[in-house]
Amino acid sequence: MVIAAGHDLSSTEAPTALTFPSSFTWGTATAAYQIEGAATLDGRTPSIWDTYARTPGKVRNGDTGDIATDHYHRWREDVAIMADLGVGAYRFSLSWPRVQPTGRGPSVQKGLDFYRRLTDELLEKNIQPVATLYHWDLPQDLEDAGGWPERATADRFAAYAALAAEALGDRVRTWITLNEPWCSAFLGYASGVHAPGRTDPVAALRAAHHLNLGHGKAVQALRSNLPSYAQVSVTLNIHHVRPHSQEAEDVDAARRIDALANRVFTGPMLQGEYPEDLLRDTSSLTDWSFVKDGDLPEICQPLDFLGVNYYTPTLVSGGAAGSSHRSDGHGKSEHTPWPAADDVTFHLPPGSTTAMGWAVDPTGLHDLLVRMGRDFPRLPLMITENGAAFDDYVDPAGEVNDPDRIAYLQGHLAAVHRAIEAGVDVRGYFLWSLLDNFEWGYGYSKRFGAVYVDYPTGNRIPKASARWYGQVARSGVLSSPDPMSD
Ligand code: FCB
Repeated sequence: MVIAAGHDLSSTEAPTALTFPSSFTWGTATAAYQIEGAATLDGRTPSIWDTYARTPGKVRNGDTGDIATDHYHRWREDVAIMADLGVGAYRFSLSWPRVQPTGRGPSVQKGLDFYRRLTDELLEKNIQPVATLYHWDLPQDLEDAGGWPERATADRFAAYAALAAEALGDRVRTWITLNEPWCSAFLGYASGVHAPGRTDPVAALRAAHHLNLGHGKAVQALRSNLPSYAQVSVTLNIHHVRPHSQEAEDVDAARRIDALANRVFTGPMLQGEYPEDLLRDTSSLTDWSFVKDGDLPEICQPLDFLGVNYYTPTLVSGGAAGSSHRSDGHGKSEHTPWPAADDVTFHLPPGSTTAMGWAVDPTGLHDLLVRMGRDFPRLPLMITENGAAFDDYVDPAGEVNDPDRIAYLQGHLAAVHRAIEAGVDVRGYFLWSLLDNFEWGYGYSKRFGAVYVDYPTGNRIPKASARWYGQVARSGVLSSPDPMSD
């Protein structure tokens, strides 16, 4: 136990310091479309997010990723900021249309060179690069050919994975196939609040399967092009679903949302089958005949760890038709992202909320990690995203003080520590996000960064939370908040 300076020693709540395992990875995360900009440079073609953002009415304020944080030009400065903070790892994504415009054929040298320079610089500064292959920017040409609802997209994805591994495998040791395929499938093709903005529940279920298949094929492509020490994974936004009460209707609503949010991916990827209840629940929409013989073994590939993103829990009740998609925290739409679950109601969990309107609930993260550890005991976990948006601003002294974010991170890291103490194999934590950035349908109106970005100038100002997080990352020790400090 460490007693923080200035703390009342007579207090029964003497602060404790939580020490993480020395091998624990401390990182920050970003994604290509959200930070890079340079949308038309060096051979990059449009992705579905370029098209979607340029469609009037889709993204708040008409914002696009055309310039974003201009990381494509400022990458060296961004790596220097990370080095300064002392984080040990950086999760970024490759822009598919920058590496392989149109999603077919050979790679583009200039696109790959950008990631070569970036990763060289990271390694030089002792920061481990973690590359995500797909953080939602499907080349528009592939969407024009049918997108994720079409089987061929899975093969295209595997070919792109092979190109990327061949080009960067000598310097990137850790690879993630997909980021949050739930969002790609259900926000992209069912509720339409994400690119490509389609609103067809059957297309969404087909997309989920072909994302699963693309993942399995990409894992194989990565393994055959990477050194044997490489780590290969996928990132899922596992929803921590709680029933509103123990009434049978609410418990069943939680089961159905768990199937549509989580087990539609963990089933095939980790257990080699789609859950029976999911197939039954959605049988009025599809017979799932797009799942072909041999697909499931192909999808179910051994992984080195599972990437888990967590922001807030999901609280549901059953039996109230028609309100599901209005309050589930995933953006407003006339269309539900939850196929065949129109009668499920989503509630705001109690407690304070972030600028996204998402409830702050660290216990949800603890419980989710414990559940994953129990369900998949041999699979190490990595928190590949966690963080919060608040209405940050630069004060007259030129500083950005974000005590709410520090409190959020403090609470969630303590929850991670509790899960580790309880025996869950959690290997690391990546703060979302290194920088304020383009928050999808919300454009630049939501700031998730540890570093403030002044969009008109591109200037970066590390927030108080960045310094706080750097200190935790460097020491591997989380001290309780000092009640004497502000
Ligand atoms: C996740 C996304 C990430 C970011 C955070 C806030 O769903 O993976 O890009 O937008 O939410």
